[in-house]
This record gives sequence, structure tokens and C-alpha cells, in this order.
Amino acid sequence: MSKKQQNAIKLESTTKWSQKSILSVSQFTHDGIATVFELADYLKAMDRAILRRWNPLSGYVLSNLFFEASTRSRISFASAFQYLGGSVDNTVGVVFSSIAKGESLSDTIRVVQGYVDVIVLRHFTVGSARIAADNSAIPIINAGDGIGEHPTQALLDLYTIYSEAQRLSKLTIAVVGDLQHGRTVHSLVDLMGMYDQIHIVAIAPQALQLPESSMRNLKKQGVRVTQTDDFQTGIAQADVVYMTRLQRERFESESDYERFEKLYILNQSLVESVCKPSVVVMHPLPRTGEIHTDVDDLPQAAYFRQTNNGLYVRMALFLLVLLSPNELREQLNAV
Ligand code: NCD
Repeated sequence: MSKKQQNAIKLESTTKWSQKSILSVSQFTHDGIATVFELADYLKAMDRAILRRWNPLSGYVLSNLFFEASTRSRISFASAFQYLGGSVDNTVGVVFSSIAKGESLSDTIRVVQGYVDVIVLRHFTVGSARIAADNSAIPIINAGDGIGEHPTQALLDLYTIYSEAQRLSKLTIAVVGDLQHGRTVHSLVDLMGMYDQIHIVAIAPQALQLPESSMRNLKKQGVRVTQTDDFQTGIAQADVVYMTRLQRERFESESDYERFEKLYILNQSLVESVCKPSVVVMHPLPRTGEIHTDVDDLPQAAYFRQTNNGLYVRMALFLLVLLSPNELREQLNAV
């Protein structure tokens, strides 16, 4: 990246992020999001060799506290931090933490905040990230609180939509699958509601439709929402099809889960014969059969580009949260 391009980075609202916890998409503002995207674009275009020498977060330590299953989120948060020169401590699973001994989340957080500079938390309880932030003097990043929210996933989803569709307004977005339990969908639809002329097509059986809280928020934001269980009609009108898996671990019984299994499967023939040619196919992953592998090589399949974007969006967030605006400016000048 040339000096000229570097100087073109405006980063007007870096103070909005500095030392703040990231708990919910309701905290985000248009210019705060624009700042994250600008920085993510910069990091994505940066030469890896230059990135390896940069080390803007040298001396910083991250605690990755994951009390629920994760591959992408945990590794991308960790790699993002390490590419920036910081060190990461991973605590994975209840069995290997003091939660197994009966420690409360607030006690765990009070202790861990004394050891590190930032905590990324995935926990099985809705509102856990808020409890953590209330007990912490350092920033908490919510990496999923039960069926609640997943705000950094929503940011990387939005960044992907922007990169693929080249706009964030006048979009029809079909969200498909387990909309009741899918926290990535809850965060994404809330975030999309901030933009103009968004139409959300929520495709799910009645029992797995968007929760009341999401519907209320969308109504408040004046977003057009169509709820349907008709997969083909729903995806036919979409600019973005956002598939999700059934959240098996959230169902009360296995037979409940089995009722809905294999309900909606997107395959190559549907993408090519039903969807718009320009459709962007997304999925937060992991998939469990709802996108056939024959879609993977189509240009419309954006889900692996989407996971990749997570690295840059999370790098941008760490820089914005941990460095003061002046420190960030200095670090960017030193690249
Ligand atoms: C999602 C999650 O954990 O909510 N995964 C992710 O972070 N990319 C989606 C899921 O588990 O279905």
C-alpha cells in the first residue's frame, strides 16, 4: 500500500470504539461502521509481509473465553490478534475452566480482566456478554451469547454484503432456516434495518420464525418484512440469500429437531434456475447440509469469502477498541 493510499484513510470516528465493549449491534452507528469497513479494506489490501512486520498490538494480550463450540470465530479472533502482534490465551469449553468448579461468570471475568487487555466471550446464556461487561474494566467482545446476538459476525456479514453487492441499501435479503434460535440472523436483521429500502424475507416454518424481539425492532426501524415458509418464492426475489443451519443444540428434544431437518436445501439447480443471476449466497457456517456442495464453485457462493472477511473485520475492531485515535494514527503512519 502506498503512502498516498494510507493517508487517504480518514477514520473519522475512531473514538467511538476506543476501550468500548462490543455487546450488541444496537450500539453501532453509520459512521462507526464505515470506519470499521475502511480499516478492514486497508488491512485486506495490505501486503502480508508488511503486516507481519507491523505489530501494532505488540505487548497486548487477548483472552478468548469460549464456553460453547466454535471453530471460525475463535480462530479468526485469535489469528486477527496475533497478526497484529498480540498474544492470545484460549480457554475452550466449560470443562477446562473454573466454570466446571461452579465459579460464576462474573467472578471469572473479574479475575481474567486483571490478566489481559481484552476478552472475547462466547457463552450459552443470553445477556452473558452484558453481565461480563458490567464486571469488567476492560473491553468485552460478544462472540455469541446463547440465542441472543453475535454482533461481530453481523459486521462481517454486512461487510461481505457490501463487498459482493456493492451497496447496503435497496436490498432484498432472504434469511433462511432456524430464525428463532440463530443469533447471527438476529444481529444481521437488526443491523440491516439501519439502511434504506431494505426488504427482509424471513423463510422458515412458523415455529422457527424470527422472534418477537426481532420483529419489534424491524417494525420500529420501518423495515419491510415478509414472513413465509415458501423457500423457492422467497429466494427468487432476493439479492442476498443468507442460509443458516438448524441450531440442533437449542431444541428441547431430538424429535423436535428432526421435524424440521432437511427442510430447505439450496443447490446448484435452484441457484441457477430460481435465484437472480446476481444473487449473493451467504452462510455464517458451519453448514449441516442446507447448502449443497455443488453450489461451492458458483460465482454466487460467497460463504468462504465471508469467513475470510471475518479476519479483517476483527483485526479492524481490535485496533479500534485497543488503540486510542492518536495511537492508531501513529501506527498507521508507521506502516
Ligand atoms: C454461528 C454461531 O456460532 O452463531 N457460527 C459462527 O460464529 N460463524 C452460526 C451457527 O453456529 O450456526
